[in-house]
Amino acid sequence: MKIAVLSDIHGNNAALQCVLREIEKHRVNKIFCLGDLLDFGPEPAEVVNIIQKERIATIKGNHDQCIVDYQLENFQFKSPVEREYLEKSITCTRKLLTDKHFDFLENLPLRMEIEIAGCPVLFIHSIPDMYNYPGEKEIRKFLQENKYRYVFYGHIHRPAVYCSDGKMAINPGSVGKPKHGNAMACFCLIQFGDRVIKELAFKFIPYPVEETCRKILQRGFPQKTIEVIRTGIYKP
Ligand SMILES: [Fe+2]
Repeated sequence: MKIAVLSDIHGNNAALQCVLREIEKHRVNKIFCLGDLLDFGPEPAEVVNIIQKERIATIKGNHDQCIVDYQLENFQFKSPVEREYLEKSITCTRKLLTDKHFDFLENLPLRMEIEIAGCPVLFIHSIPDMYNYPGEKEIRKFLQENKYRYVFYGHIHRPAVYCSDGKMAINPGSVGKPKHGNAMACFCLIQFGDRVIKELAFKFIPYPVEETCRKILQRGFPQKTIEVIRTGIYKP
């Protein structure tokens, strides 16, 4: 059983297209997405349409939730400017969506628990919930206290692996707004054997970053996103 796991596309359709083209070469059995389909990037409707068309198994991220309900109180803003940045992006994103998109986002599951190759696997936007930024200690504690052999989580926008008690937490990084220090889109490929992951590979994929930057300007999204996606560095 071979799977691809991706996360945090954030409306960056150009990055998603390149990632899906790469995944096609690897003949995976199933693609999973860990949420944050949109917000910040200029093509939210296009991204949701592709996720639906390709039948990618997706859970809900905190930005998918706030696009639907506009509730910002669960976000931890470091400054009023950061709050304004999010508000402007939500307004731009909502204008580009139809009722069908809102229904789809609202009905996304918060988590998926699946058995793969005899292993209990959890897919979740973040640990233990979609708004939290977990540190290493918290992740290891979560692994120890839960039954899952493998936990896939997103939200951090940087690839990572943590192990504890023979269990593993894996973050595939971000497709559309990476914070791993360069502009490439990131996801991971996993080959399962009998009750174990046999191979795990993080893939870094170049994509036409400037195409996304142009659309951010054309569609009136906050320009701060341009700086983040060009560098892979987010400065609050
Ligand atoms: Fe995100």
